[in-house]
Amino acid sequence: LTRITTLASLTLAAGLTAGISGAVAQTTLTVTHSSPADSHFGVAAIAFKDAIEKETDGGINVVIQRVDNEREAIESTQLGAQECAMGSAGPLGNFIPETRVLDVPFLFDSYAHARGVLDSEIGDELLAKFDARGLKGVAWLENGFRNLTTGSKTVSGPEDMRGMKIRTMENEVHMKAWQAAGVLPTPMAFSELPSALQQGTVDGQENPIPVILSNNLDMMQKHLYLTRHVYSPGILLCNLDFFEGLDDAGRKAVQDGAKAAVVANRTRVEQDETQGIETLRGRGIEVVEITNRDAFRDAMSGANADFEAQFGADLLKRIRDWK
Ligand code: PAF
Repeated sequence: LTRITTLASLTLAAGLTAGISGAVAQTTLTVTHSSPADSHFGVAAIAFKDAIEKETDGGINVVIQRVDNEREAIESTQLGAQECAMGSAGPLGNFIPETRVLDVPFLFDSYAHARGVLDSEIGDELLAKFDARGLKGVAWLENGFRNLTTGSKTVSGPEDMRGMKIRTMENEVHMKAWQAAGVLPTPMAFSELPSALQQGTVDGQENPIPVILSNNLDMMQKHLYLTRHVYSPGILLCNLDFFEGLDDAGRKAVQDGAKAAVVANRTRVEQDETQGIETLRGRGIEVVEITNRDAFRDAMSGANADFEAQFGADLLKRIRDWK
């Protein structure tokens, strides 16, 4: 299935097929993600693997690996040390700056809006930028709308967040928006979050329901505020040379695998958003519905002029007005 092979990609599986003896080339595709197997990215990885292995009749063997750091996984995919990676698009802007436009808070009103934009020519135009950086943007996945959680501190409006230390992703758009709201954003890899929460280095964090649920963050946090302040896309990307080295059937299998991953990922996000909030309540975390979401929007809006200058008012309007 491959014309070229990447580092450690080609293994030869000695085989006897229908009485013909010989070696059958098998490509190994390692895909990493940083979430538990039972999560919105875990199920996406399994769907990706199952679809590719079925379509290629095992010609591409997909190995799923869990890693700690999403930024390092993208780096290692770019260098060709692994074939593909999936996860949140949080650190993606450090590689493909144009994708940072998607990280602007309160840009999307709903899942339908975000998915519509990512599935449209806007999403495709952004995926096309990956090639120049040695990556193939295969598909937009989804992490979900992010919500604030805190330990002992409580929040009844955005003014209560002033001076709080909130762990953020390594994402400069998010950090600017939090700063505008008077928060002290503290970027770190997700794997460092549990100890930061336990040691009180940060007062809280923000993440989508599927992440809070699958990582049991309710055990470290007392309050969950459904701020839905920013949509967090997910991404499935591969090393460009690896992808282009596949033959037509191999590339199609990866793309079909990506479609299966998108369906599994979005279905699980929906399920977590509908049932997960009750599950979290049942586990004992206080869940607070936000009635004054506009106040949070206004608090972060101090960074909007910067975002317009950086991404262009036209593109932001095109995304906001997408129908
Ligand atoms: O907060 C993050 O870093 C991301 O949302 C996470 C948890 C790594 C997504 O899987």
